Amino acid sequence: MKQFSVAILGFGTVGTGVYRVLTENAADITHREQIAIEVKRILVKGFDCEPNIGLAPRELFCTSIDEIVASDVDIVVECMGGVNPARSFILKCLEAGKTIVTSNKEVISKHWYEFEAAAKKTGAGLYYEATVGGGIPILRTITDSMQANNITRVMGIINGTTNYILTKMSEEGREFGDVLKEAQLLGYAEANPTADIEGFDATYKLSILSSMAFHAHMPIDVIHREGITGLTKDDFKAAKQLGYEIKLLAIGKKEGNRIEVRVHPTMVPNTHPLASVRGVFNAIFLTGHAVDDVMLYGRGAGCLPTASAVVSDVIYACHHDGEHRYMTFKNEAEMTPDIELNKNFSSIYCLRISVLDRPGTLAEVAKTLAKHNVSLKDVLQLGDDAADNNSKSITFMTHEAHEFDVQAALEDLRALPCVFAIESVIRAEN
Ligand code: HSE
Repeated sequence: MKQFSVAILGFGTVGTGVYRVLTENAADITHREQIAIEVKRILVKGFDCEPNIGLAPRELFCTSIDEIVASDVDIVVECMGGVNPARSFILKCLEAGKTIVTSNKEVISKHWYEFEAAAKKTGAGLYYEATVGGGIPILRTITDSMQANNITRVMGIINGTTNYILTKMSEEGREFGDVLKEAQLLGYAEANPTADIEGFDATYKLSILSSMAFHAHMPIDVIHREGITGLTKDDFKAAKQLGYEIKLLAIGKKEGNRIEVRVHPTMVPNTHPLASVRGVFNAIFLTGHAVDDVMLYGRGAGCLPTASAVVSDVIYACHHDGEHRYMTFKNEAEMTPDIELNKNFSSIYCLRISVLDRPGTLAEVAKTLAKHNVSLKDVLQLGDDAADNNSKSITFMTHEAHEFDVQAALEDLRALPCVFAIESVIRAEN
């Protein structure tokens, strides 16, 4: 029977989960897969500052990456997170011919091309299923189970923290700041929540997801990104009256060689399966030209769910020892050259505008939108009047319109004397 040895870099939430699954499930894995996988080393920053050191035999721990690089371990599992020192540790291991399995979406989305070049050079493997959707088996579904298809769309909820906050705002009618504080107390949001609430985490994941789905490198800097910090309970009130939920969606669409990639709050009809994804759960929709729609749902983070994806990668790597697969698109720092980035994507828009309550206001707003080819589908006045009796908050739902047209229309609307403020602009998907 083939024997494989593993080193784990980092022994926090994910690292301890990987150790647990590899050791507690070792007999079953060996029985089913006919391979034996042993954890030989665990890298920590220091023995005194490591809170989880009691969870594994003391002799497994070390503090030097060079010791791991020089050892005979076959597979190195990186679960430290962040770019430094993860990037240099991964490169050292790949250059030494050791296969890397990682759950680190930030380092993969920023340095993927470097890692892949280093892996190809030494024939090492590079696996990162856990970087998108945590325990949801999304990446291998794309590369192994849907490879007969041209994938034309990826769309999903790929950040659990923001989905928890948006679920609470929707169901309990609460404001963003209040729910964020609660999420931090419960451990669902970090003390510094920027990466989640400003959409960076979802952008890292969409970069990996869309690159694999569309077979073209889509770096993070080409992704349109908006977070959830501007959403208010009035946005949820308007969305509900129109029959929608608001979710932070990651969206990628491909038509010919044109690709659009965006992360922003999005209204989805409450009959859509993504509308019922509550709390910290994730869900991802894929559309293939042959299979049509596929949706995967599950836990996007956490100790054992993430370890599920990481350990599956370890097993996959063992089975492909000496014949690892790499991406066949040109994986470079920049976007794949023959792709055209579609920044002028089309969408439905929900515009909440505070206007002067006098005859002719609606006509002026509609005329300005029409001048920019933005056609109205629904107009809704919220029940509550603003404090000032002369102002009303009106919600306009458009038909499909182009991003540049809508931005130009908003510019003109801001200049109208009857418009006090554009309170919110939320895109919608059907
Ligand atoms: N913070 C992320 C989330 C998990 O809330 O989904 C790690 O990417």
